[in-house]
Amino acid sequence: MKLTEFAPAKVNLHLLVTGRRPDGYHLLDSLVVFPPVGDDVSMTIADRASLTIAGPFAGSLTADPDNLILRAARRFGDARQCTAPYAFHLIKSLPVASGIGGGSADAAAALRLLARIWACEVPDGLALGLGADVPACLASTPARMGGIGEVLEPAPDLPPYGMVLVNPGVAVSTPAIFKARHGAFSPPALLPRGWNSAAAMARDLARFGNDLEAPAIGLQPVIGDALAAIRDQPDCLLSRMSGSGATCFGLFPTVAHAKRAAIGLRREGWWVWGG
Ligand code: C5P
Repeated sequence: MKLTEFAPAKVNLHLLVTGRRPDGYHLLDSLVVFPPVGDDVSMTIADRASLTIAGPFAGSLTADPDNLILRAARRFGDARQCTAPYAFHLIKSLPVASGIGGGSADAAAALRLLARIWACEVPDGLALGLGADVPACLASTPARMGGIGEVLEPAPDLPPYGMVLVNPGVAVSTPAIFKARHGAFSPPALLPRGWNSAAAMARDLARFGNDLEAPAIGLQPVIGDALAAIRDQPDCLLSRMSGSGATCFGLFPTVAHAKRAAIGLRREGWWVWGG
């Protein structure tokens, strides 16, 4: 039996660095959403553990035992004491090291597959042990994220909106971006319980930024070009970098507006998902 799970991109609508733990991990306040673009992970029980990778960004990954999908499966097996080997197949549609979940989303999808096949919950703490973004990706529903990524609370009520993602074609190292961040920590954002329009949401989000955007632009100035290209599209309400970059997003009043922006941005040569 073959099971498949979608691994949607994770987008940080705002991302504030609120502190730093003694172990070096940073405390965050972020509103995360999961647009309908992502990778696909499928799995069958097999004679031996394996991972095959296809799709537009397959070339940037190797299927070695260190891959987060295989690590997730080993840790799940250890925690649940179930040793069946699995053959995983990953269709990699999103760029790697790009601030939108990537490997974390794939690992989370693998955990959801294993939980389905064994009809059980994912053991506590397993997701966080694989990476700070994995708990949010495991749920894959809009959330207010705190701690280093493990504190998940319901998001404010979100209005309909359109979104484009633009990847400027550079991979950035998350630890390097956190290291390049300087200055005081931010207080957490004050957000209402919900918004009834994309414009109202964008107005509030504009008051809080992504604290990793400036350090990322310092290391990869093309990120600033991507943000400007999005901002220049008609009806753009907000343009911002997600996570530690380099993927940026634009918020638009509707999906139709975002689709039109995606066409314009593609014409300029950017890698875009839109709508
Ligand atoms: O947990 P993950 O492996 O995704 O994190 C990669 C790196 O990003 C960490 O080693 C750390 O340097 C940095 N990071 C951080 N604070 C977070 C998340 C990640 O400092 N909340």
